[in-house]
Amino acid sequence: MTEKPHAAGTVAPGDVTRRVGVEMLRQRGIDVEQLIQKLIDNAAAEFASTYYYYSILRMYLAGHEDYKEICEDARLEDRQHYELILPRIYELGGSLPYSLHEFADRAGCPHAYLPGTDNGAHPPEQPPSAADILTVLLEAERCAIRSWQEICDICAGKDPRTYDLAARILNEEIEHEAWFVELLAMERDGQVQPSGHFRRGAPGEAPYSRNRAFHHGGAGN
Ligand SMILES: [Fe+2]
Ligand SMILES: [Fe+2]
Repeated sequence: MTEKPHAAGTVAPGDVTRRVGVEMLRQRGIDVEQLIQKLIDNAAAEFASTYYYYSILRMYLAGHEDYKEICEDARLEDRQHYELILPRIYELGGSLPYSLHEFADRAGCPHAYLPGTDNGAHPPEQPPSAADILTVLLEAERCAIRSWQEICDICAGKDPRTYDLAARILNEEIEHEAWFVELLAMERDGQVQPSGHFRRGAPGEAPYSRNRAFHHGGAGN
């Protein structure tokens, strides 16, 4: 009879307290607990620091319809990033905090507060300038790039599934940064710094992070 080298391993047959998909990562040197915590921090940054706070930034871009629409693309794609990484946290054995307050507080990036609100403490006395809002958007995207690049670095060659999800998100974060570099360079400095990209065909299209066939069956976001 032919050898079946993968028929059995360190997890006993029928054991539902452990997962081979996790044991493989440990065997390759991944600190799974630490990875779970970083994924929760990143998910919180997507959900709270950007998706939620971009909602407010977008409202204050009224009158700049082009900026508003691009902000909306970035906002909806960040929501998609939260959705994309959420199942992975549970597959690895983790869980969302049971309190939304705790979740928002542990976000791995600063919240993208509307300028002039003293970190969200009160409404702005004067509407912030478009340049000030674009600066907040730009720095939020930069923090996201650093955060997802770190996940890619941890997972490269060891955890292909988390790497793939993080890389899809990173693709879009890099595009988001390029959008806001372009808009801020012109708005604030009158300089051309082309992004190489334009807004999506439909708001929040998320060309890399939305897996239509697998997660959403092709229906909307
Ligand atoms: Fe994001
Ligand atoms: Fe983003």
